[in-house]
Amino acid sequence: MDKFVIAGNGPLRGVIDASGAKNAALPILCAALLSDEPLHVTNVPQLWDVNTTRKLLLQMGCAVDEPAAHEMVIDARPITTCVAPYELVRTMRASILVLGPLVAARGEAHVSLPGGCAIGARPVDLHLMGLEAMGAEITLEGGFVHAKAPKGGRLKGARIVFDTVTVTGTENLMMAATLADGETVLENAAREPEVVDLARCLRAMGARIEGDGTTTIRVQGVAKLHAAKHSVLPDRIETGSYLVAGAATRGCVRVNRTDPTMLDAVLVKLQQAGGKISTGPDFIEVDMQGKRPLAVNIHTMPHPGFPTDMQAQMMALNCLADGVGVIKETIFENRFMHAQELQRLGADIRIEGNTAVITGKDRLQSAPIMATDLRASASLVIAALAAEGETFIDRIYHMDRGYEDIEGKFSALGAKIKRVNKLI
Ligand code: EPZ
Repeated sequence: MDKFVIAGNGPLRGVIDASGAKNAALPILCAALLSDEPLHVTNVPQLWDVNTTRKLLLQMGCAVDEPAAHEMVIDARPITTCVAPYELVRTMRASILVLGPLVAARGEAHVSLPGGCAIGARPVDLHLMGLEAMGAEITLEGGFVHAKAPKGGRLKGARIVFDTVTVTGTENLMMAATLADGETVLENAAREPEVVDLARCLRAMGARIEGDGTTTIRVQGVAKLHAAKHSVLPDRIETGSYLVAGAATRGCVRVNRTDPTMLDAVLVKLQQAGGKISTGPDFIEVDMQGKRPLAVNIHTMPHPGFPTDMQAQMMALNCLADGVGVIKETIFENRFMHAQELQRLGADIRIEGNTAVITGKDRLQSAPIMATDLRASASLVIAALAAEGETFIDRIYHMDRGYEDIEGKFSALGAKIKRVNKLI
């Protein structure tokens, strides 16, 4: 299993480019299942989760071509099966995103239940509630969700109210609604930029969607969708992770090919931490001017609030900050797994339910640690970069799921980071 060896090497300084957003690319690739014509996607990040999605589409019988790096052309015409098998779904819960498109376009879907993961139970009840409201017949058997469209094969438009804001729930039902008969209204919908990017792609395919980015999304069903080309928007969480790494190491990091308007809540916190923020249409720079960051308080919320996917990274910053920072995680019930690993580096973190109280230290000490989930791994890398000595981080396959060219990008910022294969 691969591990990282990281030597604390002072402030990170330099410029990197953001890759395409993982959490936009995954639903967009699944959207190809809605059409009988090819979907050409560009700015696709090279990640494990994208590979898994590609495998999932291929095993269904789709044709998947990669005309160039970061590009994929998916043609669902040759599809032979509407099954998403357990061995793929258990490695990537976002596989649930084939459910809506398959039921809407092919009249049926058999998707293994994703099961929980390190950060929480991650139920999909709201996805299923919405499809049932659109007339699908849903049964749970053998660890699978079996979904069938009503007789005649088409879902019908419905008004769906989410009692919890769900990103992939909003995406699944927005995709299903594009081919339903009549209008679908999604109330209390997720407002994440990745939902908006998916809507942009669906409109390019001929879908009629409005209100994406607000809490009410309206979709007028159409008879069919057509070929389209779409470029995935930049990854705001990758961008934020590198900016926080720059701030935690008292450096100066600039991220190009990104979009500052997607990260308002994070930039406010980096400013409160003492960062000098400069932005342009497609770049963000955080300059600590050599100063130690100040502790900040974080309360995770659905977009445009502070993103839960940036919580672990900010905890690492607070571990090194001047003062006490309080972090409240309101989205997932178990998203503090990184805390005990940070404590192994000497961090002073007290967990009380969904609240973490962090008393910053001037320095952390290196120690062997282990990644537990995708964003926790980013948090551990940030802490290791600011720790004294050499830190070994195991199970970094978690990080490969969502960060492209980790060593390349961190090395470009002056980090001493090496990937080594542990034999066992
Ligand atoms: C998406 O997950 C992201 N993944 C997650 O990013 C992100 O953390 C999360 O949204 C929140 O922003 C992708 O987009 C592929 P939710 P998702 O449905 O859609 C509850 C990363 O690190 N809920 O918005 O699975 C759920 O338990 C990943 O890139 C239900 O109760 O999250 C949670 O408490 C991690 N029933 C809350 O809603 C449902 O049917 C928000 O979950 C669905 C969700």
